[in-house]
Amino acid sequence: MLRFSCLCLFILALQSCSSQVKEDVDVLVLLPRNNSYMFSIARVTPAIEYARQLLARGPLVGLNFSVRYVTSECGVDALYALVDLARHERPDLILGPVCEYAAASVIRVATHWQIPVISAGALALGFSDKGSEYAMLTRTAPSYLKMAGTFATMSEQFGWKSVHLIYLDDREERNCYFTIEGVHALLESDHDISISMMNSRDPLAHVDEIIKSIYEHEVIIMCTHTDVVREIMLMAHRQKLTTSSRLFFNIELFNSSSYGNGSWRRGDKYDNEAKAAYASLNTVTLLRSTKPEFENFSQEMKKKIGVDVCEGCSDINMFMEGFHDALLLYALALNETIHSGYSKKNGTEITRRMWNRTFEGIAGQVSIDANGDRYGDFSVISMTNHETGTHETVMNYFGTNGSFQVLPGFNSERFTLRGAPRQPLPDPDGQSSGGLGLSAVTGIIVGGLLGTALLMAFYFFRKNYRITIERRARREQCDGKHRQLREDSIRSNFSAA
Ligand SMILES: *[C@@H]1O[C@H](CO)[C@@H](O)[C@H](O)[C@H]1NC(C)=O
Ligand SMILES: *[C@@H]1O[C@H](CO)[C@@H](O)[C@H](O)[C@H]1NC(C)=O
Ligand SMILES: *[C@@H]1O[C@H](CO)[C@@H](O)[C@H](O)[C@H]1NC(C)=O
Ligand SMILES: *[C@@H]1O[C@H](CO)[C@@H](O)[C@H](O)[C@H]1NC(C)=O
Ligand SMILES: *[C@@H]1O[C@H](CO)[C@@H](O)[C@H](O)[C@H]1NC(C)=O
Ligand SMILES: *[C@@H]1O[C@H](CO)[C@@H](O)[C@H](O)[C@H]1NC(C)=O
Ligand SMILES: *[C@@H]1O[C@H](CO)[C@@H](O)[C@H](O)[C@H]1NC(C)=O
Ligand SMILES: *[C@@H]1O[C@H](CO)[C@@H](O)[C@H](O)[C@H]1NC(C)=O
Ligand SMILES: *[C@@H]1O[C@H](CO)[C@@H](O)[C@H](O)[C@H]1NC(C)=O
Repeated sequence: MLRFSCLCLFILALQSCSSQVKEDVDVLVLLPRNNSYMFSIARVTPAIEYARQLLARGPLVGLNFSVRYVTSECGVDALYALVDLARHERPDLILGPVCEYAAASVIRVATHWQIPVISAGALALGFSDKGSEYAMLTRTAPSYLKMAGTFATMSEQFGWKSVHLIYLDDREERNCYFTIEGVHALLESDHDISISMMNSRDPLAHVDEIIKSIYEHEVIIMCTHTDVVREIMLMAHRQKLTTSSRLFFNIELFNSSSYGNGSWRRGDKYDNEAKAAYASLNTVTLLRSTKPEFENFSQEMKKKIGVDVCEGCSDINMFMEGFHDALLLYALALNETIHSGYSKKNGTEITRRMWNRTFEGIAGQVSIDANGDRYGDFSVISMTNHETGTHETVMNYFGTNGSFQVLPGFNSERFTLRGAPRQPLPDPDGQSSGGLGLSAVTGIIVGGLLGTALLMAFYFFRKNYRITIERRARREQCDGKHRQLREDSIRSNFSAA
């Protein structure tokens, strides 16, 4: 006890001589109670508390965070919670919401009040527009648009021309819809692209049409339940579409337990067929990096979130990391803001200082771009042993420099589309680079001078070809507004409501 008070005195003395910032910070956390969400309050709370304790031990000990945790489901009640709580005093910082529709209204009001909002969610394309309504938003998890960079870069390297997107629309949170919207936004201008929407009540109702679209395209990108992925792969396999002239991708960003080894296995009579079909399936997921400090974090989370809270909830996910890092980022920006003579109420200034910066997060470096969105790193996972059906990471994509790291399991043959009409790729040196080999892939760095030149070459090359943006008109339910990716961003959806 004595030692503890001595420490306090020491810290106090240190504070006064290094002009340490002292400030009370009122934080409001808006997250759902239901543990079926990976970002439920029970899972994220220990991560935020961990960050708070970390800060209390560090040089920013003068920042006194008081955190209010308020549950709000994915609808409009997040907004009501904010308005009710802010009746007397507005919070200094809002963490969350994650769900797009809850986030949209909260961020709009927060922007109006100039309160910084940091979320490890709100990943939809619409939030990238920070010009007005979402000006106070900083995202500490990579958005769907950042994820789509993985596909755009692969497309550049492997020369994809036609892409079919398949997504499941639950008409509520619409995660897959927003995921695919990001991919669509990056690929639409220079690919022949088409989309299949699946209704969550009966996903495979129009499977014939889906198979037909698969037949017509080189690259198939899916976002749907793992069971539906399996059905589609089985169907494609039976139609002999899982050949070397076609690449299948499945996007499964957050839930690491549902991809990789054994994802084809159900214990039914189709397992062997599914294993063969999955040889053509690749999964894009978040790259998980860890460092020694992460182990401690991970163990603390396991301690705090027992099985009595919810089963499997102590598995660390991107949302827990993101909200942990959110508090660190805010503390860094607030420290600078106060040192520069502004108050903690100047949300604009604090937000500006959170953007375009790199700092040390719990799992590694976190880079926030100049638009306040985190750069993301992603992995491509493929089956590397066709006998056992095991999967491995074959490529890593680094968002900050747009480059791929090729791992030993990578098979360039497999990523080189055959059978589809191939055009020689333009090469500034005049050399042919039709099928990119391992060394070529390793060497390409998008962002460098050469990368820029290559990109421009690709761009002009593609422009010479007919560009078709095909929109398959759905037979069922013709309330067009919800069907079209471009028209239905968060923005238009909400302004129409
Ligand atoms: C939590 O969400 C799941 C899935 O959306 C739902 O089935 C369940 O009823 C919800 N639980 C509560 C307590 O609302
Ligand atoms: C921290 O803030 C809380 C609530 O604003 C306050 O009750 C508490 O006294 C503060 N602690 C310190 C050390 O300033
Ligand atoms: C993660 O995936 C597994 C296997 O597909 C599933 O059982 C589980 O419910 C998923 N968890 C979440 C939070 O989506
Ligand atoms: C994590 O680190 C803290 C402080 O460094 C320490 O008190 C705690 O025991 C560590 N936890 C584990 C599980 O190692
Ligand atoms: C707080 O801000 C000051 C002034 O910008 C800076 O010198 C100091 O290193 C900052 N502290 C931390 C922990 O970042
Ligand atoms: C907030 O900071 C900006 C500089 O980023 C400054 O121009 C503005 O006047 C400040 N607003 C308030 C209310 O202090
Ligand atoms: C981002 O920061 C770098 C230096 O860290 C600076 O050169 C660059 O101009 C900044 N970009 C923007 C858009 O503020
Ligand atoms: C799958 O299992 C193999 C062998 O057991 C292992 O090397 C590989 O890392 C596993 N892959 C994943 C994605 O867990
Ligand atoms: C890109 O960034 C990653 C991680 O930040 C790094 O490991 C890799 O070497 C970089 N690649 C290039 C080509 O600069």
